[in-house]
Amino acid sequence: MKILAIETSCDETAIALLECTGDITKPQLTLLGEGLYSQVAKHAPYGGVYPNLAKREHQLNLIPLLKKVLTESNLENSKSEARNQKEIKEKITEVLAREKELLDATFDLLSHSEKPAIDAIAATVGPGLEPALWVGLNFGKALSIAWGLPFIPVNHMEGHVFSVLLGQEDHSKKIEYPALALLISGGHTEIDLIDASLNYTTLGRTRDDAVGEAFDKVARLLGLPYPGGPHISALAEISRMRRDQTHIHADIQLPRPMINSSNYDFSFSGLKTAVLYLVQKLGTLSEQQKQDIAREFEDATIEVLAKKTLRALEETGARTLIIAGGVVANKTLRATFEKKIREYPQVMLRIPTFALATDNAVMIGIAGYIRFVKNPSLFDIAASNPNAIPAEGNRPLQHKDTNASR
Ligand code: KG4
Ligand code: ZN
Repeated sequence: MKILAIETSCDETAIALLECTGDITKPQLTLLGEGLYSQVAKHAPYGGVYPNLAKREHQLNLIPLLKKVLTESNLENSKSEARNQKEIKEKITEVLAREKELLDATFDLLSHSEKPAIDAIAATVGPGLEPALWVGLNFGKALSIAWGLPFIPVNHMEGHVFSVLLGQEDHSKKIEYPALALLISGGHTEIDLIDASLNYTTLGRTRDDAVGEAFDKVARLLGLPYPGGPHISALAEISRMRRDQTHIHADIQLPRPMINSSNYDFSFSGLKTAVLYLVQKLGTLSEQQKQDIAREFEDATIEVLAKKTLRALEETGARTLIIAGGVVANKTLRATFEKKIREYPQVMLRIPTFALATDNAVMIGIAGYIRFVKNPSLFDIAASNPNAIPAEGNRPLQHKDTNASR
């Protein structure tokens, strides 16, 4: 089946079209088309993501991205006469009532193009920034209603989980259950155990900042732009190269918070505060000092994540280790896990490609497909009230006890 996927949970507007077959353990996935517009530059002056700006940008970007993706996938069908029935028009108007600009553009699109040969629509429903989530969610619902297609609301974090299934050369990958997932993004840091029915048990999570958030805050302390993760890791790499060449170890030490605690929880705000004190103590930082702080911060973070995740792997006997979320774009983190997993030959390590590490719509399409194959009858939008699918900024992953409602 062909799935059109939409992602607008934060500051990336993204649409993807995938062709999917196979069962939930080893789906065959082919990416037919993809469009991603990053709003990073627009939010940069605010030092973070400004929700109402994100909402406006998503409204402007969705239709051009959809057209691009349909053209790329050879699925664009033009038509001359407008033939939207009154009832459908009313429903779409209701669904997109709060996204007026997008409503007009959607009508325009629908009146100029036939239904493309797709079989379902998936869109992120949460977690994320609610004003941003609503735009993609309502757009997805409107297209489903107009084209008479199933609508699959997707959990953004589950999208990250299944981002590991699409390989570099379209070789679809496998997950064996139970699987352990380390989810590390700008808003989340948690370790989950996933059973074969796709129920999640959260073993531990951050008690304060998410890892990505810590990277972003430390970057700000070092005077680096938002989002800080890639900048920190670039500086850290310079520090590491210098250390390897000179064999001189910088005299900078940061704590490894909660590394020996007996649970699977994390805490990163103390690490960030330690960087703050260090920066205050050192005064004006040289480039070299910035690089050394970035390296020590990166090392501290990765050490804590690795130690706890590997202990969870041993204690649960999970067969696959999934590491996903924007922070998995970090090269040192990937290399660390790739090396350490060799001590566990019975475990498959699954990490997304760099392109699928940070937010994108491809992962939403994959997760949408997995949920759809598992239970297709849940997603008939014509039989349900579209207003009963709200954006949920804090939407949790599906636990056993919430199974019936998801
Ligand atoms: O998953 P994502 O794209 O968005 C959320 O759902 O939050 O993750 C974004 C986070 C940001 O905090 C960003 O700084 C971090 O991922 N990130 C990185 C790297 N690339 C992105 N953190 C560390 N190293 C990187 N190379
Ligand atoms: Zn994300």
